[in-house]
Amino acid sequence: MAEQSVGLRPSSRRAETRIIKPCAGLTGEIVLPGDKSISHRAAILNSLSEGKAEIDNFAPGGDCLSTVRCLKSLGVNIGRKGSRESRTLLVSGTGKDGLREASNVLDARNSATTMRLLGGLLASQPFLSIITGDASLRNRPMGRLIEPLRLMGADIRGRGRDSFAPLVIKGTELHGIDFTLPVPSAQIKSAILLAGLFAHGKTVLHQTVPSRDHTERMLKQMGASLESQGSSISLLPLSSPLIPLSLHIPGDISSAAYFLVLGAIHSNATISVKDCGINPTRTGIIDILLAMGARLKMDNEHLEAGEPLADIVVQSSDLRGIEVGGDIIPRLIDEIPVLAVAGCIARGKTVIRNAGELRVKESDRIATVAGELSRLGAKIEPLPDGMVIYGGSLLSGTEVDSHFDHRLAMTLAVAALVAKGETTIKDAQAAQVSYPAFWQTLQQILNY
Ligand code: S3P
Repeated sequence: MAEQSVGLRPSSRRAETRIIKPCAGLTGEIVLPGDKSISHRAAILNSLSEGKAEIDNFAPGGDCLSTVRCLKSLGVNIGRKGSRESRTLLVSGTGKDGLREASNVLDARNSATTMRLLGGLLASQPFLSIITGDASLRNRPMGRLIEPLRLMGADIRGRGRDSFAPLVIKGTELHGIDFTLPVPSAQIKSAILLAGLFAHGKTVLHQTVPSRDHTERMLKQMGASLESQGSSISLLPLSSPLIPLSLHIPGDISSAAYFLVLGAIHSNATISVKDCGINPTRTGIIDILLAMGARLKMDNEHLEAGEPLADIVVQSSDLRGIEVGGDIIPRLIDEIPVLAVAGCIARGKTVIRNAGELRVKESDRIATVAGELSRLGAKIEPLPDGMVIYGGSLLSGTEVDSHFDHRLAMTLAVAALVAKGETTIKDAQAAQVSYPAFWQTLQQILNY
């Protein structure tokens, strides 16, 4: 990459430093990577089906590859169609009882979705599984997974008095439960549903605040006996194998969010994103940007495999600060880091509350977002469950750090593009976890 023609450059292959300069304008159309949450589920559920499925636009990041690697270790015939770069994943399901004991420890690396969803599934399988992850994942709460699974009869243990990974799971017979989810976590909800597929009797879950519902939608499409009524879900164990589901994965709205915010805060931008997932349990970022005054339009709405998609166009906007809290939080939890950048540029104050979950993500995102954006000159006060952002800041480039958190690396790139001067982002390779092509895609829409 020639430094003079682009704003971004990696300084080495492994620990990657990106240097970003502000740009005069941004125009273009973004083709998004496949949705990470839907990709995990498509790989796992198709592995349990009887037959073959083709999953097109499978998320290319490290997290979904962790799921694929673990499924392979469990005996599933799963891999890319054709070349290594192919976005199509082929899965030959093993059927209801076809998984086998892995010969080694399963490694979810940075992916909590891999660990928690597979944790739920493996609790019912008649063999031993040990699952670990990288330093960040080994520090994330697993008690919230272990407790409900134990209520179902699971034999599952974790480090630190059953609080953290590695997890040791001795698969056993489970029974359904009637359970109210104490945290609005789609990972825990999905883990319990996966366990419930193989349990005796009905599993009923009650949500106090709804979270992403991709598992429920996909299970219904694949023939499981699942009913959603208001905020409750009931699931019967599988009496026949799941039906394979070939699908095109919608573009990831969490990846689109960087471009939606960037288009809205830059003074000379028109950016469109194609085929973006707009499942209502994920569109909090769109609702909030619209409420802040963003010039954002959706077009070409359609459904694919039970999931809604649309094209979205965003243009330079005059944003105003807003209060964000309550039930919308799970609908935009992963987008809060980049939303904070919108808050820095908006007129007036933005207050984010009820988002204490940010503290147990890939990094403590209240501390890291407030800390790194402050280095760029933002005025942000961290709160125990959110942050107060004083808008109208003039950001100035300096050296910032991703803390090995993919969402922070990309958030800092958005902030750097509206900052004065040059910004250096350390460990920018973290973006690989969800969006390996982020830097190239960004480069394609920059005008200098
Ligand atoms: C996810 C659920 C959310 C989200 C994560 C992906 C999923 O986590 O933050 O990035 O795919 O189920 P929680 O379940 O911990 O809220």
